Amino acid sequence: MTANETGATAESAAETVAEFCDDRELVVVSNRQPYSHYCEGGEGNRESGEVRVDRPAGGLTAALDPVMQRVEGTWVAWGDGDADREVVGPDDAVTVPPEDPSYDLRRVWLDDEQVEGYYRGYSNQVLWPLCHLDTAKVDARESFWNEYRETNDDFAEAVIESTTDEPVVWFQDYHLALAPRRVRDERPNAFLAHFWHVPWPSWDVFQAAPQYEQLLDGLLANDLVGFHTDQYCRNFLDCVEAATDARVDRGSRSVSYRGKRTFVQSFPLGIDASRQAELAESDAADEWWGEFSAAHGLAGSGTALAVGVERLDYTKGIEERLAALERLWETYPERRGDLTYVQKGTESRSGIDAYDDLQDRVDGEIERINDRFGTDDWTPIVSLTDHLPEAGIAALLREADVGLVTPVQDGMNLVAKEFVAAQTRDPGVLVLSELAGASEQLGDGATLIHPRDAAGVADAIDESLSLSRRERQQRIADLQRAVHAEDVFAWLESTFETAAAIERGRRSIRDPRAPQPTDD
Ligand code: G6P
Repeated sequence: MTANETGATAESAAETVAEFCDDRELVVVSNRQPYSHYCEGGEGNRESGEVRVDRPAGGLTAALDPVMQRVEGTWVAWGDGDADREVVGPDDAVTVPPEDPSYDLRRVWLDDEQVEGYYRGYSNQVLWPLCHLDTAKVDARESFWNEYRETNDDFAEAVIESTTDEPVVWFQDYHLALAPRRVRDERPNAFLAHFWHVPWPSWDVFQAAPQYEQLLDGLLANDLVGFHTDQYCRNFLDCVEAATDARVDRGSRSVSYRGKRTFVQSFPLGIDASRQAELAESDAADEWWGEFSAAHGLAGSGTALAVGVERLDYTKGIEERLAALERLWETYPERRGDLTYVQKGTESRSGIDAYDDLQDRVDGEIERINDRFGTDDWTPIVSLTDHLPEAGIAALLREADVGLVTPVQDGMNLVAKEFVAAQTRDPGVLVLSELAGASEQLGDGATLIHPRDAAGVADAIDESLSLSRRERQQRIADLQRAVHAEDVFAWLESTFETAAAIERGRRSIRDPRAPQPTDD
């Protein structure tokens, strides 16, 4: 399959965005940047080392890059590369991509207090656990909030400085809840949109953040706020209704607040499914798999393979998954030696206790389970923590008989979709958490489990390994249709088509003969 059902492609998505923006400037704002510059040989080698460019692997930034090239906009993000300052001009911007410079990457510099308070602190020890329903981990220190506010101001300032009167600004994620209000104050005629990449919790949970009112006030400065699922939209509207004096219209999914109307809609994020399928079929994937399977005694061994790929984050359910695998090898001893689990975990957010502790516990559990069941010819769990090339990850997913995507809470989970798109050969089975946003789209063709039900997950893995090829093929065909139909380009198109509909609606209310983007 090469095109999705809506026919959206990178080009058509870029065209939709360009049409919407017309002659207005597009500014994308995110915490992470699409390119970072680093000094070869590390910072210590600054004098002699050459400056190189690093690109993020896949994901949203890769999909947005062609759009930004087409509309020649500006991307505002944290400059965290060790050579980032060396390549920018006086406006803190560098033109990217390096091989065909066409849009500005404007960097925001964070000092140590900001990294601690805004990034490690409020973003990842207040909003992240809060949105993932883990209020026990919320650390509502005042300094975190102060740095979050200040840094959101810095991002907003960079947006304001990069634009004139009526820009189109698209904020990404939970790091930037306050920036839209500041931009709105300075650019009242801008079109502001925000996509929230994590779940939005119910009001009783959201209330655990002492600053709930300010957070909502920031987000309601947008014209459009997007979430992955309808449930998150409903939760958001509940919070607005409970915490503010806004008028919520559930029929049109909109909020009237401080003289403005904000539309709230779900846009389930997808992946570049065609690219993932191509990667899985690439020579690089074959080569990587050849070496890996030989090194781990998997080549031609007849041993089944289960795979998990994620950042080492407590929301991903890694410990719960290890417990389920232990249960599997206990309950079904015939699966010992017959199923190997490969865990590709990427170190993440180090320096935050909850993450450092998790890494230690996961290492400890893997060692313990391997000691318990391992034999001279079989290692139950292979843990990969080093960087893997994209083709290596695609190969792992392609070869997996079972893809284990078992988060205890997840806004969407794109690995589930990557697994599906990578099944280009003997199809594997997706074992998917009912607590991942992706279960709304993939629930029918996947085996749904509750991540904390160890016995249930063990049974699901055992059953998945027993499914006939025909059954697996049927399921994966259905899943692939869904993943290709709702890919990242369809997501982009649908976001900007909604933005256009909002503007059309406003024009027709105001004066159909004088079309111009305005506030309500
Ligand atoms: C989640 C967030 C992203 C974030 C990513 C990696 O997917 O929604 O905004 O970039 O995690 O986390 P990090 O803290 O390394 O940026």
